[in-house]
Amino acid sequence: MAIDYQARIPNNVDLSTDRGLQRALEHWQPAFLDWWKELGPTTFQEHDVYLRTATSVDAKGWATFGYVKMPDYRWGIFLADKQEDRTIGFGDHRGKPVWQQVPGEFRSALRRLIVTQGDTEPASVEQQRMLALTAPSLYDMRNLFQVNVEEGRHLWAMVYLLHAYFGRDGREEAEELLYRHSGDVDNPRILGTFNEPIDDWLSFYMFTYFTDRDGKYQLKSLAESGFDPLARTCQFMLTEEAHHMFVGETGIGRIIKRTLDEMQKLGTDDPVTLRKAGVIDLPLIQRYINFWYSSALDLFGAEVSSNAATYFANGLKGRPDEMTFEDHDCSGAFENVETPDGVQEVATRNAMNFLTRNAYVRDCAVGLTRWYRTIKKAGFDFELRLPSERFHRNVGVWAGAVVDPEGKPCSPDVVEAALPSDADRAYVKSLMVAVTEPGKCANWTTLPERGVNNQPIDFEYVRAG
Ligand SMILES: [Fe+2]
Ligand SMILES: [Fe+2]
Repeated sequence: MAIDYQARIPNNVDLSTDRGLQRALEHWQPAFLDWWKELGPTTFQEHDVYLRTATSVDAKGWATFGYVKMPDYRWGIFLADKQEDRTIGFGDHRGKPVWQQVPGEFRSALRRLIVTQGDTEPASVEQQRMLALTAPSLYDMRNLFQVNVEEGRHLWAMVYLLHAYFGRDGREEAEELLYRHSGDVDNPRILGTFNEPIDDWLSFYMFTYFTDRDGKYQLKSLAESGFDPLARTCQFMLTEEAHHMFVGETGIGRIIKRTLDEMQKLGTDDPVTLRKAGVIDLPLIQRYINFWYSSALDLFGAEVSSNAATYFANGLKGRPDEMTFEDHDCSGAFENVETPDGVQEVATRNAMNFLTRNAYVRDCAVGLTRWYRTIKKAGFDFELRLPSERFHRNVGVWAGAVVDPEGKPCSPDVVEAALPSDADRAYVKSLMVAVTEPGKCANWTTLPERGVNNQPIDFEYVRAG
């Protein structure tokens, strides 16, 4: 269905036919804008940013790019098209028609899933709000803002579901989503990771590579939901999410490329020498990977989880790409889960977090293989690796285990040495300087090969309005 951009709230859900809902959302809209202006990107709210806006929910709908001041971005409500005769694909209700309304018995579980997902969206905008001040190029600054406005739209996506399907307590939850703030002592965001500021660009790329990818897998699981409006919302969010992964992968890839250039030029891989040249040594990148990957694994929850089993049994949250599995019932099936006490047989329904995480782990590995190839091609043999899933965990069966990145027991100082040190973090911070001249970039990275939407690299992606 085409998107109505004439409406105050752009949408493809026929919002004008439901006056009560429309009014409620129009009431929430100014609160959202206040939040955006107060806790969204600093300093550049009045700048013109070359952004893309969805014009329809199919692949062609992404073609619209143009200068927008961020507060004027057309945030709205976009659901993937309804699939006729869709049935629930897994769990105890599989084969029955999907639900267009919230089944009473699953109301609080669904609300909890939606609120938890919704809370991460504005949280990441808040975490990244100072980053533009040290953007390594206008291209990067624009990509940051694109990610930020889309996370803002993801908040809209969840708020729509709360307003449309959960009545008064849904509206209250929607208000709470603007009331909790990342890092706020009294009202923090729900998940721990989303309360840490992201104030250097290496961390930003790591976040978009590892943490946003967790988001992708949560959305993929929710896109399978028997609650059809949730499934359709998440399907469309996934098309936006792809760009966030791209920003992370190419961001880290460009840093590696720059470092390799310097390694070739100086004929050394010595971190001290490379730091003198102002680039980021590969072992430091490895320590950042160790940190961000292990904390992203925690976001999947415990390997063995009765909540996850209930979500699956009730048809609320499936596995990513559920259709690629043969058994959609999973009662009477078992998974082998490694624990510090040996391999344990766990009922498959209880191992849903573990299975979702496995798909995530495979997806994470793709970029690392690509980076390793680049490093080898440049004549060096340094393999960036995902650490063991046991390493540096705070959630699940390996929480608190003292193991090295290979997963073997070790002393605590080995763990510490595998994570970013204070000196690493201070060094990365020291590199952060804004480069705002079109076609130029900071010394520690390189410009991308292609610009946005076929624009040249030296295009003025962000300009004073
Ligand atoms: Fe998002
Ligand atoms: Fe994202």
